[in-house]
Amino acid sequence: MATMLMSSSWIFALLPSLCSSADHDTFKDCSRVNFCKTLRNRSAQDKYTVDETGFTTDAPNGRVDMPLRVNDSSAFLNFSIFALTDNRFRIQVKEINSSRQELDHVLAGAPPVVGMHRFDVNTNFISISLGNNLFIIEFSPFTIVIFSNDVLQVILDGFNLEDSLDQAFAFAVSFPQALQLYGIHEHADSLTLQTTQVGGTDPYRLRNLDVSGYELNSPMALYGAVPVLYGHGPNGTAGIFLHNAAEQWVEITNDENPQAYIMVESGLLDLFILLGPTPTEVVRQYVSLTGTAHLPQLWALGYHQSRWNYDSQDDVKDVVANFTTYNFPLDVIWLDIEYTDGKKYFTWDSNMFSDPVEMQQNISATNKRLVTIIDPHIKVETGYSVYDGALEKDLFVKNADGSNFEGDCWPGLSSYMDFLNPEARDYYSSFYSYDNFPSTTPVLAGIWNDMNEPSVFDNSIEKTLPGDALHYGGVVHRDIHNIYGLLHTMSTHQGLMARDNGTKRPFVLTRSHFAGTQRYSAIWTGDNTADWGYLSVSYSQCLDANLLGIVFCGADIGGFANDPDVELLQRWYQAGVWLPFYRAHSTSGSMRREPYLFDEEVQQVIRNALQLRYKHLPVWYTLFYEHTRNKDPIIRPLFYHYPQDTDVYRISDHLLVGRDILVRAVAEAGVESVQVYFPGGAEEHWISIDNAEVYDGNGFVNISVTIDAIPVYYRRGSVIVRKETVRLSSDEMANDGYTLYVNLDAYNKATGTVYLDDNTSFNYVDNKEYNYLKIDMEGSDVTLTKVDEDANSNGFDFVIDHVVVNKVIKEPENGSFGRYEQKLYTKDTSQELLKNLKFTFDEPAKIKLT
Ligand code: NOJ
Repeated sequence: MATMLMSSSWIFALLPSLCSSADHDTFKDCSRVNFCKTLRNRSAQDKYTVDETGFTTDAPNGRVDMPLRVNDSSAFLNFSIFALTDNRFRIQVKEINSSRQELDHVLAGAPPVVGMHRFDVNTNFISISLGNNLFIIEFSPFTIVIFSNDVLQVILDGFNLEDSLDQAFAFAVSFPQALQLYGIHEHADSLTLQTTQVGGTDPYRLRNLDVSGYELNSPMALYGAVPVLYGHGPNGTAGIFLHNAAEQWVEITNDENPQAYIMVESGLLDLFILLGPTPTEVVRQYVSLTGTAHLPQLWALGYHQSRWNYDSQDDVKDVVANFTTYNFPLDVIWLDIEYTDGKKYFTWDSNMFSDPVEMQQNISATNKRLVTIIDPHIKVETGYSVYDGALEKDLFVKNADGSNFEGDCWPGLSSYMDFLNPEARDYYSSFYSYDNFPSTTPVLAGIWNDMNEPSVFDNSIEKTLPGDALHYGGVVHRDIHNIYGLLHTMSTHQGLMARDNGTKRPFVLTRSHFAGTQRYSAIWTGDNTADWGYLSVSYSQCLDANLLGIVFCGADIGGFANDPDVELLQRWYQAGVWLPFYRAHSTSGSMRREPYLFDEEVQQVIRNALQLRYKHLPVWYTLFYEHTRNKDPIIRPLFYHYPQDTDVYRISDHLLVGRDILVRAVAEAGVESVQVYFPGGAEEHWISIDNAEVYDGNGFVNISVTIDAIPVYYRRGSVIVRKETVRLSSDEMANDGYTLYVNLDAYNKATGTVYLDDNTSFNYVDNKEYNYLKIDMEGSDVTLTKVDEDANSNGFDFVIDHVVVNKVIKEPENGSFGRYEQKLYTKDTSQELLKNLKFTFDEPAKIKLT
């Protein structure tokens, strides 16, 4: 059966390009968007002069204001600069009597201002210093030049606040030290930003849109917008964050002075400048503005099985049972839109899902969970309580004339919740309660928020709300378009918090996203296609999201549109192991592709991939915790840890999971070998997890591959904490002991960390109930030290079942790989000390391996 299934899917696989081209009639290019077309020619830029007679300074409190004028006219703009903590500045430019919409809900809190150290006024410029940073504001034309540690890092110029374009504006930012620019998520493109130019490639667009069949290597807008840009080179990393949720287009120039020219439809020019000087610091500087993700519940890091749709409760039960029968681990089964009664969210189709409670009990009997979809459009139907209540309370987005907006989406005619209205967020969130969402139980463990760009099935308005639609407080939609999805997830998160009385960390998956989404939700990369390029781009997309704070990211395993051949499917399962969110999903009418439907050899490859994921659950969980603590990405491009190595700047089919695991996706069909880049120089060594080979960090090596695995390496000197016995769900593994993979360095040392808590609640935040340990191996001693002395680790014993010591016995040299030997210490074999090791201690605990 499986063979038949896949041979017919080959026919589909031959046609991918037919189905994966975006609709260019519907989705405009720059030349069809008035403000982009006008601003792109840059004719009116650089016309502003600082009126040096009009400063107001409060340098000790970190603020300087100055008027800007054009030629001899009187000043009509005000420029403010604020010095912030941690090598950051904020600048704002607005009309003196500004009516621009100031953005709310995006920042995690008020950015902390610090006093400027010096403020000097000269004839043609002023200079402001803070720490090792020096700001020069040149008066004419108005230009900002920023030095950090005496190195020119950022130039801001090209300002244009065109009167003729209503509220549109533009400015340019250059990073003289950078060799590459990164960021401005979300695009299906390489990790590095490509050159765009008039007559060539369009600028990158940031406007959240429902672009089905999206194209690769394209600057077209996708579902999310994160207006953060980093410039990186061997002499430093710097960045900007434009705190503005209107549509933006970004022209990229990659010459000696890489530059982004940013064109914005409306809203405030409110810009944060991040001065690094390393990738780690610049990311932390940004993430502390918009916040971190909270820890997910452990189950959310397991494997998720979805499709559009599982048609009935029997279908669901059958799939779950087959995962057990065929021994595939699974944590979550997902229900797409068809489970509802006529796409009325918070209801069930009573024919196909006649007993949802019994279905949930069945799912939970094998320790699995359910996630269902809830979209933001509400069917216009009297008698549908969600609609009736919102209508009565006046909670829908409005047309410019004040009537409720109505447009088509899955249910037919729909209205759209106005999530900018706090009352609408409260109202919508209340439907997640067990009482208001009938037949739901705690087995419904998370919610999927889709179509929240928001999507409206009307090509004449680019499939979204019109710019002049109105929100709460008279706010025009175009000013806040890109945060509609963020506000949707805020409401859902609020609903799940309330539903469980704050006892469980909510799990929400969203398609539309913005800066700050990480506080409420995970993301996925939307409607990709079953084609090799989409497997590859999933690494770029999620690496980019991780650099921009949205760490919980994944892509539809196997591809959403079309059907993958078995090779692509296996490679996708293998690559997906190493993205934070691991879910298979496919479109309606796609061939069934649950892993147990394939030939035994294929099943085994997929089973191995899933098991590898589950073995590394402690790694993922610890990294998520460390993200909450340090703001670091979970997955990282090579340049993040090897910022001096210019050869890695453009690599995006490799990633680092944390600091210590190097992965190379195999995104090429039919290959017997792939080029793997080992970073770090001669002193950095990489230990294969599949054979006894050890490589030094001297660049590309051709590595043989079979279908059984993709290249994965542990960094020498690390301790990787795993769970060796894989069971059928993360719940079932919760009480199992741990295995340490100790990768001894040349001095016989290795270090790592592990984090344990109740896997579910916010007690780790509220009461410091957790156990966070540093693991140090030296010689034959393993030392465990509590990182936070005052954390309450009661009940979170770190129980070690096995220690696997990987010791290099032949050093890699002269371009040839070395070898390592593995020694296994188990509680069963020899060491008395390792018997049922439990660590709840005040002093560092030591185990001796002999
Ligand atoms: C669009 C989403 O991107 C896709 O994942 C989902 O299956 C469909 N909407 C139907 O809900």
